[in-house]
Order: sequence, then structure tokens, then C-alpha cells
Amino acid sequence: MYQINMNQDSVQRIISFAPSIGLILGSGLGDYGEKLEDPEFISYSEIEGFPVSKVEGHKNRFILGKLGEKRVIAMQGRFHFYEGFTQDMLAAPIHIMQRAGVKTVILTNAAGGLNVGFRPGELMLISDHINLSGSNPLIGDNDAGFGPRFPDMTDVYTASLREKIKERAAEAELELREGVYVMASGPSYETPAEVRAMQILGGDAVGMSTVPEAILARHCGLKVIGVSCVTNPAAGISGQPLSHEEVMAAAESAKKRFEKLVDLMITEICE
Ligand code: HPA
Repeated sequence: MYQINMNQDSVQRIISFAPSIGLILGSGLGDYGEKLEDPEFISYSEIEGFPVSKVEGHKNRFILGKLGEKRVIAMQGRFHFYEGFTQDMLAAPIHIMQRAGVKTVILTNAAGGLNVGFRPGELMLISDHINLSGSNPLIGDNDAGFGPRFPDMTDVYTASLREKIKERAAEAELELREGVYVMASGPSYETPAEVRAMQILGGDAVGMSTVPEAILARHCGLKVIGVSCVTNPAAGISGQPLSHEEVMAAAESAKKRFEKLVDLMITEICE
């Protein structure tokens, strides 16, 4: 298992901040981190052994800050399997969060809509996932100090937290869908035949992230909430070719609603 030295200064700064909520920001959604009060920034490059992402629009740093009374550690920039990282390398941020006292991680992403009822810009609460990435972040030696060899995945996206956020979102008149997230490895988008297969399997949205972090978080006892910003109909549904620019533009257009939803998750749902 990928190990990081928890005794180094940069990690100790995070541990002494004592956040209770971890927030991983997906493509086009990274600006949220800038909302946190009294922010302190820690670049990933300050942490020895920490991966660094080269994806455009990712800032590669932690932001430690507060929202109301809640202490939050946000990741502006995450690591993707398709960048060439092995999935176990994604353990570095999750394990730092766990050691710092985080109880719940909020995972966010941009995703293609498999459910033909979804429109670009809509937000989908993740109810469960299907891992079609071809790998698993827990492959390799198990560190029993974090969790068991064969962790249960029955309730990855904590049902009680989902019920609460659905109620709060309805009160705030914020439209929220719910569905199953499928992870593909990427970086090529899916083919129309793959999209049809994923629909048959029961997927509602498809993306290239989130699942490894969700598995790692559950393995080490953290609760997980996941939200996808549906940025486009998945390949073949609209007949239009997909582009990263379209994905980023749709995420930008959903920004206000996304921010409101994450505000509610942090201030009203998470401990
Ligand atoms: N497929 C995979 N990942 C994505 C998509 C998609 O259609 N849109 C945004 N991220």
C-alpha cells in the first residue's frame, strides 16, 4: 500500500488544523475552495511523496479553512487513474484526512449523463457506484491500521446523509437528482456502445474519478457523500461529439447551484 510520511511538517500542519470534513473538488468545480474563511494553503509539492496532477484547471493544493463553525480541508485538484497514477496512490490524501480527524468526505465530479432524463448542468447525488475502471485502490498489501483486507461496500454513500441532504435541498428549492455513478478509466470518452452497456448495467452518470477515493474512504472508516455535475449527455445520446471544453463550460454554468449544495452539505449535514 502507498505510504506517506505522516511526521513531516506539512502533514503535521494539516493534522493540527483538525478538520472534520474533507472536500475533493472535481473538474471545473475547484473554485469552491476559495470560499473557505481564513484559508491556509498547502501545495501538494510541499508534501514529500504526494502525487501532483497535471490536468488543466487543477491547482494542486490543499486549502484549510472554515465555513461557519466547520473546519474543512479542500483539495483543489485531484489525481486521476488516467494520468498514470496507480489507484493506490490516491490513498495519500484520504489517509492524511483520516489521520487529521476528518469524519466525512464530500466527493465531487463532472460526469456524462447516462440517464436520458438528465440535462446538462443538473446535479446528481451519488447513491452507489459501479467500478468499471479495471482496477481497485486497495490492490496490494493491506495496512490493517487503516482498515480490513475485504471492506464492506454496502453503504458507500451514507444513506442517512443522502436523506438529509435531499430534504435540505428541497427546502432550498435546489433541484437534485440521484443515481448510480459508473467509473471508466478514461482518458478517452466512452463509445456509444459502451454508453449503452453502462445504461443496461444500471448507471445514471459516467466519469473518470471518485470511485477510488470513495473505496479508500470507506476502507478507513470515513463517511462519503458524492455529487456529480452532469455536464453533457454521454457519448452517442445527443449525436454530438464530446469535448473537455464543453464539460468545463457546463460545470461553470452549474457553479452557483453546486456551491449552494456543498454549503448545505458542510453546514447542515456533516458533523
Ligand atoms: N464521460 C466520462 N467522463 C466525463 C464525461 C463523460 O461523458 N463528462 C464529464 N466527465
